[in-house]
Formats: sequence, structure tokens, C-alpha cells
Amino acid sequence: MTAETDRGAADRPQPKPGIDEIVAYVPGRSSVEGVEHPVKLSSNENILGSGPAAREAFLEAAQSLNLYPDSRTMALRAAVAARYRLEPERLVFGCGTDEILGRLVPQVYLEPGDNIVQGEYGFNAYGIGARACQAEVRFAPEPNLRLDVDEMLNCVDERTRLVYVTQPSNPAGTWITADEMARLQAGLPPAVMLVIDAAYAEFCTDPRFTDGLDLARSVSNVIVTHTFSKLHGLAALRIGWGYVPIEAAEAMERIRLPFNTSIAGQAAAIAALDDTAFQAESLALVERWRPWLTQQIGGLGLEVAPSGANFILVRFPTGAGRTAPEAYDFLAERGYIVRAVANYGLPDCLRITIGLEAHNRAVIDLLAEFLERSPR
Ligand SMILES: Cc1ncc(COP(=O)(O)O)c(C=O)c1O
Repeated sequence: MTAETDRGAADRPQPKPGIDEIVAYVPGRSSVEGVEHPVKLSSNENILGSGPAAREAFLEAAQSLNLYPDSRTMALRAAVAARYRLEPERLVFGCGTDEILGRLVPQVYLEPGDNIVQGEYGFNAYGIGARACQAEVRFAPEPNLRLDVDEMLNCVDERTRLVYVTQPSNPAGTWITADEMARLQAGLPPAVMLVIDAAYAEFCTDPRFTDGLDLARSVSNVIVTHTFSKLHGLAALRIGWGYVPIEAAEAMERIRLPFNTSIAGQAAAIAALDDTAFQAESLALVERWRPWLTQQIGGLGLEVAPSGANFILVRFPTGAGRTAPEAYDFLAERGYIVRAVANYGLPDCLRITIGLEAHNRAVIDLLAEFLERSPR
């Protein structure tokens, strides 16, 4: 026994209270034993890869591996501000939007005993960040897997500092209208920040949809985040941005790591913003196959939540004898990795990223085989 292990636990430095109760984020699986090249439909990545301009910019960045990146992200800042008509000084860049949503926002706003409110099935990075600040996480019921403004407002009390909306949601893909978003913001006390995570917003073209930027431009308690990981296909480079009130931008600037985005990430993101052809191709793929998958899966007797994202959530009705975990294994063994979402409180559901035509057709054929019936 070493001197180290000899000591009683009480003598050692202990993580602060609450840390050991946090359930770590579970990333989508990317391999299956015995399957050489599985198709990964578990992390809502861009199935087309990334655009040629972004790849070229990434390769060019290899010339600068010895250099620190621009800490203020000035060139990308200007590009995002111009594209979205935003005030550049209110933009914050992060190591993915994960860093903004799960670290910077909670660290700036949460004290022990405060609380955050999010949807019942909301993305779990928010709760991890809040709990690390010893704040409480409140879950508002989501009837029909869709955020309910009144349920959200009912959860707000005098210790609420942040209200998170995933727009469209993950894992359900559902979304609320611009009118509902405005009603939620109007119903919050002015000191409560509405944080709108628009990671999948580019995949929803319904005119009633909003990514929240209109609100963020006009009121001082709204934050909106956008990522380069999904539509732009740059998940590996870990880069995203938030549009935040000016005081929040100044606070985040003080506490963020000075080099939280890379030269390659910044350069590829600038190129990706301009690559409207790749963006259009990525969106067209989702818009082509999302309704088809929804209809085919419905035809198999399974339920699909109406999705505005690049994935769908499939529910296996209880009592049907064929469960979501069994379907997950069946698909994985045949080379298709989807996402089990029991950790979101949805043990009877699977989340499936929309793939290429061949992937989508294979998933339907396999689900039909699994259910022992043919697609209609
Ligand atoms: C809803 C939602 N928000 C945020 C993120 C984080 O994205 P990133 O950190 O890659 O920007 C994800 C990633 O899957 C997500 O699903």
C-alpha cells in the first residue's frame, strides 16, 4: 500500500458538494464490435461531411501550427456579424456551443442555490454546467415531447436565473413558434436570462420558426447560440458562437480561456459561412428525407415526433412486444448505430440522424424486418 492510498478519504482534497452526483455526458457510440464500418447515425453530425472550402481552409491552417490563434476571433467575428446583422462586440465564440451553454453562461450567472429551467427532455449539457455551479435544475413537463411555455413559466421562481430552450429540441426535434418564444420571454422576470440553443435551427425552414435572434436584437435578457458543428459539418473543430447582451459578453470575455477556439476552427468556420452551396446541399438532404422517414416509420406502426432538425425521434409503443433497446441492438448488429435516449427519460425511444438515401432506406428495411412486417 502506498502512502497515498494509506490515507483516509477524508484527508484527501474532495470535489465540492454535488459534483459526484453529476451524470457525465454520454456521447453517441461510434463503433460496434464485429462491424467494420458502421454507419453512425447517433450524433446528428453532417452526413455529407464538410464543405470543400472549409476543408481547404483547414489544410491551409496546417501552416500555422506553431502559432496561437487570434484570441478575439476578429475575422470570424466580422464574418458572423455581417452574415447575421449582429453587433460584433456582442458575439462570443466557444469550443463548440457546449462551452458557451455549459460553462460560460452558468459561470457568469449561477450562484449556489440558484436554479435553471429547461424542458423535461432537454439537452443535458445545460444541467451539467448548472450543477457544477451548485445550482438546481428544474424540468418543465413537455407534453407530446414539445416545450410548453406555461409549464416553463410555472417552474420559474425568485431563484431562477436561466431558462434554456433548445430550438429545435434535442432529442425530440420539436420546436416552438416565434409567437410562443415571444410569450415565454415576455413572461419572464427581466432579471432571468432566456438562453436559446439554436444548434439545429438551420434545418427548420417553417416560417413560424425562430432561432431567437430577432428577440436577442431587441431585448436585453436573451442569449442565442449557433454552432458550426451541424449544418456546416465542422463538429471536429469545436467552434460555435453566442449572441449575448453586452454585459454578458464583457463578463464572458473576462473568464473564458484565452485561446478557446483554434486557428483551424476559425479559418474553416469563415470558409463554411461563405459556402452556401454546401449549406444548401446539407439542408436539401434533410428536407428530402425527413418527411420520407417520418412517413415510412409511421407506416410501420411506430411514432415519430414532428422534427425540425437533422434527426428524428422514434417511439416504440409500449406493449408492442418489440422495444427500443432491442431495435437499437438489431440495427447496431447490422451496422447502423442510432442513439438510445433512456438517459433523457425516453427509454421507449430511439433518435436517428437523417442519413444518405441508402442509409435511410436501409434503416426502414431493417426496422420493418425487426418488426417482422414490410414497409407500406
Ligand atoms: C442541442 C444541442 N446543443 C448544443 C450542442 C453542442 O454542439 P457543439 O458544442 O458542437 O457546438 C449539441 C450537440 O450535439 C446539441 O445537440
